[in-house]
Amino acid sequence: MKRHLFFVVGFMICISALATSIYSFVQVTRVETNVPSSTSISLPSSHFVLIAEEENNSYWRLVEKGAREAENQFDVLVEYKAPKRSNPEEQLKLIDMAISAKVDGIIVQAVNEEMFTPLINKAVDAGIPVITIDTDAPRSNRVAYIGTDNYYSGTIAGKAMLDDMEGDIHVAVITGSLESSHQKLRVQGFIDMISNEPRVTLVEVEASNISRLEAELKAHQLMEEHPHINAFYGTSALDGIGIVAAAEKLGLDDLYVIAFDTLPENLSLLEQEKIDAIVVQEPFEMGLKSVELLLDIREGQPYSMTNHTHTSIIRKPDLSLLQEHQRLGDKQ
Ligand code: BGC
Repeated sequence: MKRHLFFVVGFMICISALATSIYSFVQVTRVETNVPSSTSISLPSSHFVLIAEEENNSYWRLVEKGAREAENQFDVLVEYKAPKRSNPEEQLKLIDMAISAKVDGIIVQAVNEEMFTPLINKAVDAGIPVITIDTDAPRSNRVAYIGTDNYYSGTIAGKAMLDDMEGDIHVAVITGSLESSHQKLRVQGFIDMISNEPRVTLVEVEASNISRLEAELKAHQLMEEHPHINAFYGTSALDGIGIVAAAEKLGLDDLYVIAFDTLPENLSLLEQEKIDAIVVQEPFEMGLKSVELLLDIREGQPYSMTNHTHTSIIRKPDLSLLQEHQRLGDKQ
């Protein structure tokens, strides 16, 4: 009887082991057949890299948005890369990595022409077309530029201030950087526009390192050191916000402020009359058109080397028109 029981238990163990093996085999085969075969994955035919100044800066996110729109429209993959905080050396490393990865094209903000030219030329020598965006390096071998005419944008900022203000003007400038090519042009254009006006004095030019907080600190210092300042010009996207924050802390409510870029915060300050005028740039358009331009170049289509996006001045009464324009743009 004991032997018989032993035989039955042994038999049941064997049966359940066999069943487990069959089940596992079926599962494995099922998983394998669910994996798509490598031939069914098709990669876009062009792979571009877009190298921005600062990863989470709202202005650069708009540029990225434009490039993503191009991804929707064309057979292209765009990788968005940028340092966490503005850092030209890191941007150079990103260009070098893109060259090693043999991408089909590079779109880069050439924030400092001298520093960026050797790597731009290295990419072009390796057969990779490079487009500069937002900030140009015209003496490099870049194939084209897309972005604001930065010198011109400085001149219209100067003209807007002259048109809007009566009497003597003591103006200070908060600029993104004293080294960046485009920021220097924005300041130079402004200075050239005001330099023949005896009623205008340029008090000081300070750098914010494109940080809202640093813009506020520098503006605060200037306001305390030079109480006669009655106007501020901010040349990068977050400078105006910093200038207004400093003015609010010191209770100064009659300063004239001209800022850059139609970011939502800037538009809201314009609405509240804390910013008086804004220089409009087209970051979404830059992102979209930069990809289109690179595709044209790769396909041997004709293209322009210099592609200036629209720049203009808006004041509070222009806000409704701008919002309508953006609303229509969102619908497209
Ligand atoms: C400039 C960008 C810059 C950004 C910083 C914009 O006005 O065009 O180059 O990175 O401001 O916030």
